[in-house]
Amino acid sequence: MPEHFDADWLALREPHDAAARSRALAHTLARALPPRPALIDLGAGTGSLFRWLAPILRGPQRWTLADADPALLARAFTAIAAWAAARGLATTISGDALLVHTTQGAWRVEAEIVDLAAPLAGLRLNRHDAVVCSALLDLVSADWLARLAATLKKPLLACLSVDGRDVLRPAHPLDRTVFAGFRRDQQRAKGLGVALGPHAPAALHAAFTARGFTLRSAASDWRISPISADMLDMLVASHAEVAACRIPDRRAAIRTWAALRARQIDRGRLAMRIGHRDSLALPPGTAWPEET
Ligand SMILES: C[S@@+](CC[C@H](N)C(=O)[O-])C[C@H]1O[C@@H](n2cnc3c(N)ncnc32)[C@H](O)[C@@H]1O
Repeated sequence: MPEHFDADWLALREPHDAAARSRALAHTLARALPPRPALIDLGAGTGSLFRWLAPILRGPQRWTLADADPALLARAFTAIAAWAAARGLATTISGDALLVHTTQGAWRVEAEIVDLAAPLAGLRLNRHDAVVCSALLDLVSADWLARLAATLKKPLLACLSVDGRDVLRPAHPLDRTVFAGFRRDQQRAKGLGVALGPHAPAALHAAFTARGFTLRSAASDWRISPISADMLDMLVASHAEVAACRIPDRRAAIRTWAALRARQIDRGRLAMRIGHRDSLALPPGTAWPEET
């Protein structure tokens, strides 16, 4: 069963995701793509990666948002239409596709309900010019990544894979316990084998270099300042809940920790970094485009 993700959580994290993703790697991908590229976004959710990456790629482009959750995909269309309207861009519907009309041409967006646990051959990934994803690879297993690397013959841009470099400021002696409990949960099976959690960036590198891809990567950390109280509240509460389940004998201490952290958020005294990495993998024989 695919893990369920709440659309409101994806909306809360979207500005933090946008600030964190590596624009340098996105520009490199843009230079590696043909005109009018077709991209497939695996685990697209509500289309956050499209809203960030399409304006960087510029020009006409075709997107397939692939996800197991039809409700998230439906919300992707309304979210993209609202996002476009806020930027003065018209949208129209053409068959099953949403078209965003820009001064450089149309961005065509389609949705596909897929379970990524099914054989990847069925997705026909190589009919696209690139595969992209965001906040997905820490949910998958090493075996799933090996199958992706064996299947893919096109560039892969994988954004926002957690890497475990998490820090709270000010520090507290229980932080290490809470993060350890949270990380254990990140590595439970979530429908795509035993999840890699913070090992995803290294596993991606190993799986794709074994297939002759070359990779570049960049840190893409969430840097959550005290003004983002809603995001901090959500992260503290979810870390505490998950850690208490995973380490039940520390439940009372974790509850005290969460209450203290909530007071610090109220007073604007807490900041957090959640470590992530973005990676761009180019298939064997592809030269890295020149920097301009
Ligand atoms: C953390 S969310 C990221 C969503 C989106 N990429 C973003 O950055 O906002 C993970 C996404 O993967 C999707 N997902 C998880 N397991 C899946 C599976 N087995 N098949 C297809 N999609 C899956 C979820 O429905 C969810 O939309």
